[in-house]
Amino acid sequence: FQPKILQGKHVLLTAGPTAEPIDPVRVLSNRSSGKTGYALARAAWEAGATVTMVSGPTALPTPYGVTRITVDTARQMHEAVMARTRDADLFIAVAAVADWHIANPSEHKLKKGKDGTPVLEFVPNPDILAEVAALEQGPWCVGFAAETQALRDHAEAKRRRKQVPVLIGNDAQSTMDADAASYTIFDDAGHTALPVLPKQEAARRLIAEIVRRWQSGDSA
Ligand code: C5P
Repeated sequence: FQPKILQGKHVLLTAGPTAEPIDPVRVLSNRSSGKTGYALARAAWEAGATVTMVSGPTALPTPYGVTRITVDTARQMHEAVMARTRDADLFIAVAAVADWHIANPSEHKLKKGKDGTPVLEFVPNPDILAEVAALEQGPWCVGFAAETQALRDHAEAKRRRKQVPVLIGNDAQSTMDADAASYTIFDDAGHTALPVLPKQEAARRLIAEIVRRWQSGDSA
């Protein structure tokens, strides 16, 4: 009998992109498919956890056993997460959260001729991961970073800036919407690269690696 490594634990995750309205029919979003977050949610459930996933818009089915809360914007994701941190033991921020929302979304669909060329004004969104990591009695936190260059430098800088014990990095261009990926785990001891694996298999490995570090009492 193999005890499940997350038995009795509550895992809270974010997944997918966010979508920030420009007008009632247009949004500003990104290429995140949600596959990594959904694979991790499934792997956490398989490991015995109670799993709550706050997800932006994706085309993916909810993994069996996982409670999914669907949101559109970063501010909705922020609110949904902050309302649930009290019950969470482990928080894994996988979502590709928009860094900005649009200050002045139009109430009506913008019209080509009549409204001219729109000028969008951006306002920063709350940093959900940094805020959860700063909670005094908060869950243990893991972040993600998808980068197009200098993965090591950027991922390690993010880990320190957001004050999280573990941050998992990947190459944005080869990973986004792909079915396989190579992830690198950054922690106090340095970094460990996993081979290219199908995302569900990679997610199981990542859950095992995360739990091992969590149990060994790492803190940022
Ligand atoms: O530097 P960046 O903000 O892109 O770091 C990415 C990490 O932070 C991811 O774990 C992402 O889910 C999280 N994040 C967040 N809220 C934001 C931006 C990023 O939780 N507004």
